[in-house]
Amino acid sequence: MEKIVIKGNKPLHGSIEVSGMKNAAVAIVFGTILAEGKCTLGNIPLISDISDAFDILTSVGAVIKRIDKTTYEIDTTRIKPCSAPYDLVKKMRASYYILGAELGRFGRARAAYPGGCDIGLRPIDQHIKGFRALGADVDATNPGGYVNITTEDGKLYGDSVYLDIVSVGATINIMLAACKAEGTTVIDNAAREPHVVDLANFLNSCGADISGAGTEMIKIRGVSKLHGVHYDIIPDMIEAGTYMVAAAATKGELTVTNVIPRHLETVTAKLLEMGAEVEEYDDSVRVRGENTEIKGTYVKTAPYPGFPTDMNPQMGALMAIAGGQSMIREGVWDNRFKYVDELIRMGADIKSDSKSATFTGVKTLHGAPVSACDLRAGAALIIAGLSATGKTEIDNIYHIQRGYENIVGKLKNVGADIELKYVPDEAASLNNVG
Ligand code: EPZ
Repeated sequence: MEKIVIKGNKPLHGSIEVSGMKNAAVAIVFGTILAEGKCTLGNIPLISDISDAFDILTSVGAVIKRIDKTTYEIDTTRIKPCSAPYDLVKKMRASYYILGAELGRFGRARAAYPGGCDIGLRPIDQHIKGFRALGADVDATNPGGYVNITTEDGKLYGDSVYLDIVSVGATINIMLAACKAEGTTVIDNAAREPHVVDLANFLNSCGADISGAGTEMIKIRGVSKLHGVHYDIIPDMIEAGTYMVAAAATKGELTVTNVIPRHLETVTAKLLEMGAEVEEYDDSVRVRGENTEIKGTYVKTAPYPGFPTDMNPQMGALMAIAGGQSMIREGVWDNRFKYVDELIRMGADIKSDSKSATFTGVKTLHGAPVSACDLRAGAALIIAGLSATGKTEIDNIYHIQRGYENIVGKLKNVGADIELKYVPDEAASLNNVG
């Protein structure tokens, strides 16, 4: 088992380069199923969600070649639909994109219910509603937790789908399924996240006809065939936001490069409100927390362009040490405050229920053994550990490795005292006794 060990209370200084966006990359990697040919994807983040997605694609017949550190060629010519193994699919949430992509290409799909972070109920009723609107027959009740999707004549037919709730996953899955449907599909109340737009751009460059991505109404006119392309994934706004908050929390100064500043506007606005200095450049942002008093604020998370729920825990780590009172209201998930108990172990003063948390800032946190209960909670604990006095040891870091490329190395380069430490698994060593 690996842990992250941090000796904190050191300001971060320097420059950090952001990797490709996890949530765009996972959608586009599965989107290559629709392109009958080879796609070359650049700016792929080196994270375990991507290696899991590659494992799933390889297991159904794709051939994946590494071109360079962040560029991969994916050939999905010989994919066999309905064959994704349960053990691989259950590891990651975004594996459900195989349903939309296989359905779009073959007119049938089958996969296990997906896994992913435990941040609340994660139903897929809106995905199913969309597939059914396109004429598919969806059986989500069979034993073993599989979703089985078929069509009468192997074809889907475009129609209108109104999403009852703004869902990133449902918007993406319906877009994937509809690319080759006969006629036009309209998704109303669609998610507007930059990763939805990135997937639409990728599919359009493969020959799809999608308009309106980035607005609440997306129109997909079916085409008969999609072809392979070279495509570069956009930078990860949540990784960027995490480092921006870390600069403020450690009273340091960081330039975060390879970003799209427009995607960071809500994080920038909140950091400015809290007293940090933020300067935007063409493809970088500079955040200064030194010589300023960070003060409390109010955040309500909401679908894009609202404040991202995936920045809730990191903001919480900053609010724990901001002057006065702060509050976060969670507007997307039911269970995003599990990190609060870990921050309290580090000396934070926080009251929370499932929907909101109130922070009374303390002067400083102190290091403690803590556990990453999900991906962004893990990022928050790293920020807390960097700002705290003493030593913080974080376990369950596989959650963090699902979504942050080389976070330890990147932070070390800007002055953090942070290490990956291998610790023998206690249960395993007990089993070996006698
Ligand atoms: C995506 O999850 C992201 N994951 C999440 O990022 C992110 O938190 C979330 O969008 C919201 O921005 C990926 O892109 C792989 P949703 P997704 O469908 O698509 C409800 C991270 O830390 N809902 O937009 O699963 C649902 O319960 C991760 O990187 C339904 O009710 O989220 C939630 O309350 C974690 N029925 C809300 O909608 C459905 O059919 C938003 O979920 C689907 C969703």
